[in-house]
Amino acid sequence: MKKDLFSLQNKVAVVTGGNRGIGKAVAGCLADAGADIVLLDLADPSETAAEIAREYGIRTCGLVCDVTDPQQVQACLEKGAETMGTLDLLFNNAGICIHTNCLKVSPEEWRKVMNVNVSGMFFVAQAFARWLLDHHKTGNIVNTASMSAQKVLIPQQMTSYNASKAAVWQMTRSLAIELAESGIRVNSIAPGYICTEMTSTVPEELQKTWIRSIPFKRMADPSELAGAVIYLLSDASTYTTGACINIDGGITCL
Ligand SMILES: NC(=O)c1ccc[n+]([C@@H]2O[C@H](COP(=O)([O-])OP(=O)(O)OC[C@H]3O[C@@H](n4cnc5c(N)ncnc54)[C@H](O)[C@@H]3O)[C@@H](O)[C@H]2O)c1
Repeated sequence: MKKDLFSLQNKVAVVTGGNRGIGKAVAGCLADAGADIVLLDLADPSETAAEIAREYGIRTCGLVCDVTDPQQVQACLEKGAETMGTLDLLFNNAGICIHTNCLKVSPEEWRKVMNVNVSGMFFVAQAFARWLLDHHKTGNIVNTASMSAQKVLIPQQMTSYNASKAAVWQMTRSLAIELAESGIRVNSIAPGYICTEMTSTVPEELQKTWIRSIPFKRMADPSELAGAVIYLLSDASTYTTGACINIDGGITCL
């Protein structure tokens, strides 16, 4: 290749929910593509950040950040930019899931899911876009939606999660349009069943039921999401915005 379209060299990528699971695995792959990494997470991500820096020989910084607090989000982005010199890319990924039947879900549970998955994701995207514009820069955002934005999966009952991810999907498309003329692209990925701490805590029987329902007959390793994220964050996708890439072993075709 004369020009490596997928290179993230000389870019600084912010990854939320980066201390474990999809965030951690994708952050490692972004680092492998050349990016320096700012990890944000509710749980202190400094050890994970140091691990990624050692493994890939790039610069990292790990900051404790609750994405539901807009002031904290803004302060962390400022701090990340100050430490790394700039910001270019955002993998906006922090999210939670609660399995509770719609008749039993409490207002606190409902608000918690909406707060992290919808408001938190919006506050990070907004603060990141504001930072780019304040510094006369362009950049790219990838939000983590889910197959649950389009599909009601059974037997688990999670109306709050499904609604929150449908909101992420449409939020992505709205941001893509509102930010198009500012040179900021906004896309999303819709993962299927991925092996992370989020899914490993469910009973084994439920996991077996999931696997039977997936055309590929297996769950994914979180690193299998990285190719799509790198594509959407890199110059390989300069004419793509508002898109959502399904990465789900075929499940949304059913
Ligand atoms: N695992 C799956 O099967 C799957 C499928 C589709 C979509 N997703 C989505 O992928 C994303 C990552 O999921 P995962 O499986 O890696 O989950 P995970 O629970 O393993 O990791 C989530 C990370 O987000 C962090 N986090 C939670 N609340 C936060 C907050 N308020 N502020 C900052 N950080 C916070 C957690 O500390 C954790 O490190 C989520 O948005 C999830 O909804 C996951």
